[in-house]
Amino acid sequence: MSKYLGLDLSTQSLSAVIVDDKTGNTIHEDSVNFGNDLPSYNAPSGFVHGKNESEIFSDPCMWLDAMDLLLKKLQDKIDLSSIRAIAGSGQQHATVYLNSGFSDKLGSLNTDESLSQNLKSTFSRKISPIWMDNSTSAECAEMAQAAGSAELVLEKSGSIPIERFSGAQIRKFYKTDQAGYDNTAIIHLASSFACSILSGKSAPIDYGDGAGMNLLNLQSNDWDNELLDACAPDLKSKLPETAAASTFTGNIANYFIEKYGFSADTKIYAFSGDNPNSLIGCGGALPGTAVISLGTSDTFFAAMSKPVTDPQGFGHVFGNPAGGFMSLICFRNGSLTREKLKDHFELSWAGFSEALNSTTTTLQLPWLLDELTPRVPASKNSIDILKGAVTPSIIRQFVEAQFINMLIHTQWMGEKIKHVILTGGASQNDSLVQLIADVFGAKVERLEVTNSAGLGAAMRAYQAASGKSWQEVNQLFIKVDESKTLTGKPYDSENKLEIFKRLLAKHTA
Ligand code: XUL
Repeated sequence: MSKYLGLDLSTQSLSAVIVDDKTGNTIHEDSVNFGNDLPSYNAPSGFVHGKNESEIFSDPCMWLDAMDLLLKKLQDKIDLSSIRAIAGSGQQHATVYLNSGFSDKLGSLNTDESLSQNLKSTFSRKISPIWMDNSTSAECAEMAQAAGSAELVLEKSGSIPIERFSGAQIRKFYKTDQAGYDNTAIIHLASSFACSILSGKSAPIDYGDGAGMNLLNLQSNDWDNELLDACAPDLKSKLPETAAASTFTGNIANYFIEKYGFSADTKIYAFSGDNPNSLIGCGGALPGTAVISLGTSDTFFAAMSKPVTDPQGFGHVFGNPAGGFMSLICFRNGSLTREKLKDHFELSWAGFSEALNSTTTTLQLPWLLDELTPRVPASKNSIDILKGAVTPSIIRQFVEAQFINMLIHTQWMGEKIKHVILTGGASQNDSLVQLIADVFGAKVERLEVTNSAGLGAAMRAYQAASGKSWQEVNQLFIKVDESKTLTGKPYDSENKLEIFKRLLAKHTA
């Protein structure tokens, strides 16, 4: 039996998932919470604000201290020499800026010091802008103009220029601190930075996380010269190579062997973004399966064989760590909206489910909050209709429309979804699950997974080290509750799509 470690460097914590290849079970999970465990960074939720509210940063030294702390915790419970391979996950878009001393220092880490003590002199920028930073609208507009248009950026990179994406953040650094930019030898993502530390040398950026920069060309899986020029001068020389997520980046660095007892044979594989890793950890590695995470917002992601992009620019396309591509589409009106509907009628969740079981020939636009997909304001008409409603069965018209909207805005992928894996709290609701099965005309399975990104990373480590097929990997690690699988009942989707499109046209007129 061998063990595999998945690390997940997220906004609020660094966590570990250890799996074994005999049972496919998670045998240990651990975590360092930045706010609670590293209070000296004054970042209760893992980030701090800049000069204004829209600027949001994390301290990369905090991430390094978390790495030491987490490995110490793991070492107390697990014999780390039994870990055969490690892969990882990072919050997407966050950038780390390093000077020319970084690579040398990585090769000779001193075990008498912590990682942050070893590396603190190698940051050319003390802070890392993270995905929550929304301060770069001007840079997005400039990049679109320099590249030709936002649509051209979308066609090449898989997304229109987006404020939180790394390209706009790098451009802002170049504009606001040219000396700091010139002094930067390497720009890493959170994922490739963490991978570099473990590998003892600068690691590549994988296609999954790289696609969250607005700089990677999806056709070539390499940096796009025109997009780089539209971002900042000399950028190519500062970016690591791009590589598949299955790339072997080196045996674990000596620091970790000496300090934490890893075996010198422990293999490190490229890290990727948290969404690409979650796709894997939720069993969505192969096309035909979509993962829908029912959270405050609903998120849809699915493997795609071809690099097609959303012509309307709402969805994103990233590399799939299992090969090919993946979509990521976020719907802001998710569980929060369902909860508002429930609360309006003062129902329990059982009462909400009963309302969902009613049938309806009409729909209501489901946007009680401003929506991201499509980018429209909340529907005042729907809010008024809800206010005047007396029977809870109208809930069905809203919730059915949530998933008709999801169906419409995922059709650009050109993939027939035969199988949906649902995660998140609301996936326990049978009526909701049946509704999703009907709308998508698919088999729906539910998955309870606490850290899908960490699990996905551990699965990637296993897949890369063992060379097994993704079917075999899914069979071993994805533990869906088969007894709760539901299949779609006959459903007149064409008619419902028409009704929805008419309502949408009226709303945007
Ligand atoms: C995706 C995104 C977030 C972060 C969260 O585009 O910004 O999901 O990856 O860690």
